[in-house]
Amino acid sequence: MRQKRRSRIKRRNDRPQLTPEKLEGLRVAGRFAAEILDRVAEMIAPGISTGDIDNLVLEMSNARGARCAPKGYRGFPKHCCTSINEVVCHGIPSDAQRLQEGDIINVDVTPILDGFYGDTSRTFAVGEISDEARRLIDDTYEAMWRGIYAVKAGGHVGDIGRAIQPFAEARGYSVVREFTGHGTGETFHCPPTITHHVTLGRGEPILSGMVFTIEPMINLGRWKTRILDDGWTAITVDRKLSAQWEHTIAVTDEGIEILTLGASETPPPRPE
Ligand code: MF3
Ligand code: CO
Ligand code: CO
Repeated sequence: MRQKRRSRIKRRNDRPQLTPEKLEGLRVAGRFAAEILDRVAEMIAPGISTGDIDNLVLEMSNARGARCAPKGYRGFPKHCCTSINEVVCHGIPSDAQRLQEGDIINVDVTPILDGFYGDTSRTFAVGEISDEARRLIDDTYEAMWRGIYAVKAGGHVGDIGRAIQPFAEARGYSVVREFTGHGTGETFHCPPTITHHVTLGRGEPILSGMVFTIEPMINLGRWKTRILDDGWTAITVDRKLSAQWEHTIAVTDEGIEILTLGASETPPPRPE
């Protein structure tokens, strides 16, 4: 798509309005999303099905009066995404699919509470996993945080991929390009697009008031993905492992706020 030229007036109006009320609504939704994943973490074990995970997500959401954004989104059939091993993202939960010792699984949830979206995902180990898989999970988590710490008002969205891709490639991984982070808050997906790889130019400016996700998908092998016939499940073309972590963040005049932090999650120290 060709970029439209925008006047200075229009640009000034683009500054997103993040009122204290809206920020508080986002905090509540984000905290609830993290709570769901805290409970998912406790149930992950060999033998459970991804359908069981979906049921937990649905039940917790119903109990809280929340809706699940994935359900019915462009026809998506379930309430969360469950992506095992070579599945990069958008795996569809199923009662017939059981977790096996040694698997890695990403669970991605997006409850809507009071009209506010909290979008977050984590990758879990099922029982004992290989050292290689453990390292991939941990390094992907670090990649997400490097991306988060690259964010500042006055910076550009391109700074995020510039923090993530060199880090990931130095460890021998590749960074998925077909799927990106995104603006969110009062809709599921909106501008800006957050690429996790390096793009030409610095990308659009990061403004105070923006709310968006950072959700790198990092592969053991090549970055290329393809979609299965179900129209959703994205897998690595080489069928090697892929991991992902996702947080929703708000950019405020005070700095950045992580809206989807887990109860026992301590942000790592900021890199120099
Ligand atoms: N939660 C995913 C994201 O991080 C989107 C899932 S869309 C679905 O953007 F339809 F697959 F659920
Ligand atoms: Co997202
Ligand atoms: Co998500």
